[in-house]
Amino acid sequence: MINDLWYKNAVVYCVNVETFMDTNGDGVGDFEGLARRLDYLAGLGVTCIWLLPFYPSPRRDDGYDVTDYYGVDRRYGSSGDFVEFMNLARERGIRVIADLVINHTSIDHPWFKEARSNPRSKYRDWYVWSKKRPRNWNKGMVFPGVQKSTWSYDSEARLWYFHRFYDFQPDLNTENPEVREEIKRIMGYWLELGVSGFRVDALPFVVSKKGATVGKPEQDFDFLREMRAFLQWRQGDAMLLAEANVLPDQDLKYFGDSDDRMHMMFNFLVNQNVFYALASGDVRPLTVALKKTKQRPITAQWAYFLRNNDELDLGRLTDEQRQTVFAKMGPEKSMQLYDRGIRRRLAPMLDGDRRRLELAYSLMFTLPGTPVIRYGDEIGMGDDLRLKERQAARTPMQWSTEPQAGFTTAEKSVLPVIDDELYGYRKVNVADQRRDPQSLLNWTERIIRARKEAPEVGWGDWRILPTGSPNVLAIRYDWRDNAVVMVHNLDSKPHRIKLRIDDRERTSLINILANDHSEGGEDGVHKLAIEGYGYRWYRVGGLDYILHRSRS
Ligand code: GLC
Ligand code: CA
Repeated sequence: MINDLWYKNAVVYCVNVETFMDTNGDGVGDFEGLARRLDYLAGLGVTCIWLLPFYPSPRRDDGYDVTDYYGVDRRYGSSGDFVEFMNLARERGIRVIADLVINHTSIDHPWFKEARSNPRSKYRDWYVWSKKRPRNWNKGMVFPGVQKSTWSYDSEARLWYFHRFYDFQPDLNTENPEVREEIKRIMGYWLELGVSGFRVDALPFVVSKKGATVGKPEQDFDFLREMRAFLQWRQGDAMLLAEANVLPDQDLKYFGDSDDRMHMMFNFLVNQNVFYALASGDVRPLTVALKKTKQRPITAQWAYFLRNNDELDLGRLTDEQRQTVFAKMGPEKSMQLYDRGIRRRLAPMLDGDRRRLELAYSLMFTLPGTPVIRYGDEIGMGDDLRLKERQAARTPMQWSTEPQAGFTTAEKSVLPVIDDELYGYRKVNVADQRRDPQSLLNWTERIIRARKEAPEVGWGDWRILPTGSPNVLAIRYDWRDNAVVMVHNLDSKPHRIKLRIDDRERTSLINILANDHSEGGEDGVHKLAIEGYGYRWYRVGGLDYILHRSRS
C-alpha cells in the first residue's frame, strides 16, 4: 500500500508558465510552450510539476493576486491548452500540482468589487472589514520595507479592509462557511481537470483568525481536515503540499496527528539551516533542525528545496547566523530583501562554484523527504538584481544561444532574459549543457536517476550517524532490509571521518556514484577521507541489495 503514496518519492519541478517557453511570439510563456518542453522535463527525471499561479490576474504579485479561480490567464493560452498540456504530461507519467492561492484574492476580483460596492451583497462578508482603523493596522506585514500596512481604507466601501500581503490582495474571510465551500469548489474544479493536488499558498494565514479585534494569533485547524477530506473524496491519491513557515511545535497541527490534514509541508527550518551550513561549513545547527522536524505522521512527508520563487527567507536563523549567510551569499543591500532574506538564485549565491553547487544539490536530494527543484537551477541560472523584489530570480528559462535565449521570438519578453557575461544565456543554457556530458544539467539528470534508485530516502527511517566532525553530515536510511548512507562535507577542506555501520553481515559501503567503495574494520568502523565539499552516496552491503529488499 505504501507504494501508493507517490509524493513520498517524487521529484518535483517548480515552474512558472509565464517564463518557461513562449510559442506564439508575444513574449509571454504559455501552456503550449510548457507542453512542448515536457520531453525535456521527462528526460531530466521530473515526476511532478508544480505550476505557479496561472489564473487570470493583473499580476501585480506574479499571479498570486487572482481574479478568477476557474480559468487560465489568456496570455498563457486557453483552458483547452491547459487540458492538452495535462494530457501530454500524463502520457509521460508526470503529475501536475497547482498553486492554490486562497488566503486572498486580487482587489480586482468580482467578489471584492461586489463586496466593496454593495453592503447587502453576500460577498461583503467574504472579506475582512473594520469601521475604524484597527489598532494594529501597521503590524504584521509580510513584506516589510515594501508593504506599509495590513489594513487599508477603501473609499468605496468606506471601511478598512484587511490584507496580510500587499494592499491589492484583500484577505478572504476564511471563517465564512460560504468561502470554505467555494475553496473546495475550486479544488474540485482543478481535480476534475486532472491535477494531482495543490501547493497551498500562505497556509498559516488561511487558518488564522482574522479581524480588527484579533489580539494574539489563533488558528482554526479544523478547516485543514475539511480540505483533506474533500480532496480525498474527490480523488484518493491527490495530495496537499503546504507553504507554512512555522515553528516545529506547530508542525503536527498542520500535518494532523492521524494523517488527516496536510500530506506535505515545505521544510523551511531545514532550508535555512542548509544555507547556514553552506555558508559556515558547520552542520551542527542543520542536525538540530533535522531532529526538530523529524516527527511526522506515517503518510506525511517533508518537501526539501534550495531556492524557490520567493526570496530565501532566513528569518528563523539567529541574527548572527543570518549575518553569516548574508556575508557569504548576499553581502550587498541590493541582494537582500524584506530585512530577512536574499533574492538571488542559487548559482550566484555559491559563486558559480560547481563543487558547491553539486554539494548543495546532493544534500537536498538526500534529505529525508521529497526534493523540489526550481526551474533553471538545473543549469545554474543567475539573477537580475535590477528587477524589483523577487522578480530578480524569476527571469525566463535559458534554452539556447539564440536571441532571447530561445525563450521567445519576440523583441521584448515578459521579463528580460539574463544577458551578462557570467550567467547570461550565451554562457548558461540548456542546448550547450545537453551536449556536454560534464554539464550541471547532465549531472542533475544523473543524480535524479541515483535518487530514484535510492527509495530508502523517501520511504525509510533515518538517523544521523556521528562522524566526529562538525563539518561532515552523515545520514543513514533504512527501508525494507536495505540501507543507504549519505555523507556530505560542508567544509572547503578535506576531512577524515569514522563511520560505524553496525550491520554484522554487511560490512562494505558501496559507492553509488563512483568507484571508491569502503570496507569496514572488524569493529564495523569505516575510515573515510572526504575532500573539501565532497559528497558520498553509499549503499550498505553489496549490489545484491535488490534481492534482499523485503516486501514490507
Ligand atoms: C506566497 C508566495 C508568494 C506570494 C505570497 C502571497 O508566499 O510564495 O510569492 O507573494 O504567498 O500570495
Ligand atoms: Ca505566448
